[in-house]
Amino acid sequence: MPPNPFEPLSLRGYTLKNRFVAAPMATQYADKRGLVTETMLAYYRHLTLTGVGMVVAEAAVISPEGPGWSRELNAYSEEALPGLRQLAETIRERGAIPLLQLHHAGRQGLPSREHTQMVAPSPIPCPVLDRPVRALHPQEIKDLVRKFTDSARLAQDAGFAGVELHGAHGYLLHQFVSPLTNQRDDEYGLQRHAASRFPLEVVQSIRRAFPDLLISYRLSARDYLPRGLTLQASCLLAKGLEGAGADLISVSGGMYASLHGPESLVGPATPYGVFRDDARDIREAVSIPVAVAGKIQFPTLAHEIIANRDAHLIVLGRMLLRDPAWIQKAQGLDRNPVRECLLCPRCRFHSRGCPDGASRPTWNE
Ligand SMILES: Cc1cc2nc3c(=O)[nH]c(=O)nc-3n(C[C@H](O)[C@H](O)[C@H](O)COP(=O)(O)O)c2cc1C
Ligand code: SF4
Repeated sequence: MPPNPFEPLSLRGYTLKNRFVAAPMATQYADKRGLVTETMLAYYRHLTLTGVGMVVAEAAVISPEGPGWSRELNAYSEEALPGLRQLAETIRERGAIPLLQLHHAGRQGLPSREHTQMVAPSPIPCPVLDRPVRALHPQEIKDLVRKFTDSARLAQDAGFAGVELHGAHGYLLHQFVSPLTNQRDDEYGLQRHAASRFPLEVVQSIRRAFPDLLISYRLSARDYLPRGLTLQASCLLAKGLEGAGADLISVSGGMYASLHGPESLVGPATPYGVFRDDARDIREAVSIPVAVAGKIQFPTLAHEIIANRDAHLIVLGRMLLRDPAWIQKAQGLDRNPVRECLLCPRCRFHSRGCPDGASRPTWNE
């Protein structure tokens, strides 16, 4: 019998009740210091009520120079702990496994008074943002490994079952694996290792420190840009991450230069299930489970991806905002057709619900 999305899945001792995962989606509902607010908790209550087996809470920054936008969730200071505890509890109470996504924006970062220059593997500005960038010193890279590990400790203390490392969409970890952004010739470059050492060191360090913590690694399988990251390199990276101690590889794609604008990889111009084939290749390269996101518009497609074993988990973002009954409909508990997401730019950057979703985003009123 082929697998189906309503079968449970075990990950490092945790059982997901089904194969649906709420995608990490930045809300900007944190307060000015990046702390969890009541509005954010209400948002996650709604998101978890969709019936997903796991929720990856939005990108949370691991260091003061790392945010990608204002009011990004804070995962680096002790004052964030009580709010993160409430967030993990809110997700658990509704029967989903909570993960916290750990993030550093690197060259796609937001300048501040204290940090006017962005940091990255090499001093190459993002063509979309065109902000000043300097290359990280090897010692700073080692410090960042420690900061990711400290943030993982904060997530564990807050009651999250695990963390997801944001290695996709052109942010810092991705910048280390793409030849477009990593032109270093030291030990963190791409010449001496098939996959850059930095992401592997982050995973190894977290695994060593927290043997029971679930570790998901979200990667962009390809940059979808000339001379960018290839699928073949990402398969090697995924194998390396598995060896380093990751439990799950979550497949996405692109960086700002291929995700923004009218030709966005997740806009109307690309096929449904746009990263499905890449996920299948990565699934074949590793023996840990693989998740896939990206325009999985209809339940039939989700059923097909799971039945074909292209991926073990389906990650849904905008689909759940547009139609909170999507999963019930996929299960046949609600016979109405799903409300199709329009793939419009209105919620491209920060999720405040779909303005004309099936249920009004009451947390926002
Ligand atoms: C409003 C919004 C915020 C997002 N924030 C994040 C984020 O914090 N971390 C991340 O990895 N991806 C983020 N994404 C990408 C989603 O996780 C997902 O990969 C993307 O929306 C494609 O899936 P979908 O077609 O089901 O929406 C965001 C997407 C949206 C629409
Ligand atoms: S705002 Fe647009 S892209 Fe976002 S969920 Fe609604 S229809 Fe989809």
